[in-house]
Amino acid sequence: MLWLLAACGPGEETAETEVDGEYAYTIRCGYCHDVPNGIGAELTPRVLATYSTVGGLDRYLRFAMPHETPGSLPSAEYDAILAYLIESRELVEDGGDPRELPPSTELRVIATESRGTER
Ligand code: HEC
Repeated sequence: MLWLLAACGPGEETAETEVDGEYAYTIRCGYCHDVPNGIGAELTPRVLATYSTVGGLDRYLRFAMPHETPGSLPSAEYDAILAYLIESRELVEDGGDPRELPPSTELRVIATESRGTER
């Protein structure tokens, strides 16, 4: 999906939906959270569901991550990464488009522990 990023030339308005959440997660978060002995914990459904709601997880990510430079990402990347995590870890039942969920939507552990975190 690299072409999506490449397609946005300088000066072009970039719609938020054009950020690829999986790609953004991989380059922004994966080197701490998705590697053996990384300094961040593996982001399993159970870990993420402790943030209770879509809005709760969103606030935490924007406030605390990436760990070394909190709040440093463009807003569209936080949105895309949040949506990617919700979808890949199956945190919402029949959620439809994960970008359209109201902040009050509850996060649940639907998948088994290993789903979405296996490589
Ligand atoms: C430089 C390494 C690093 C990067 C990059 C990073 N994190 Fe973290 N992350 C950590 C560490 C360390 C903790 C534990 C923080 C604490 O307990 O204060 C953490 C905690 C978390 C937690 C809470 C886990 C729990 O057990 O409650 C989540 C969720 C999370 N990170 C998501 C992300 C996301 C999403 C990104 C990308 C936007 C990201 N992190 C980028 C190191 C990192």
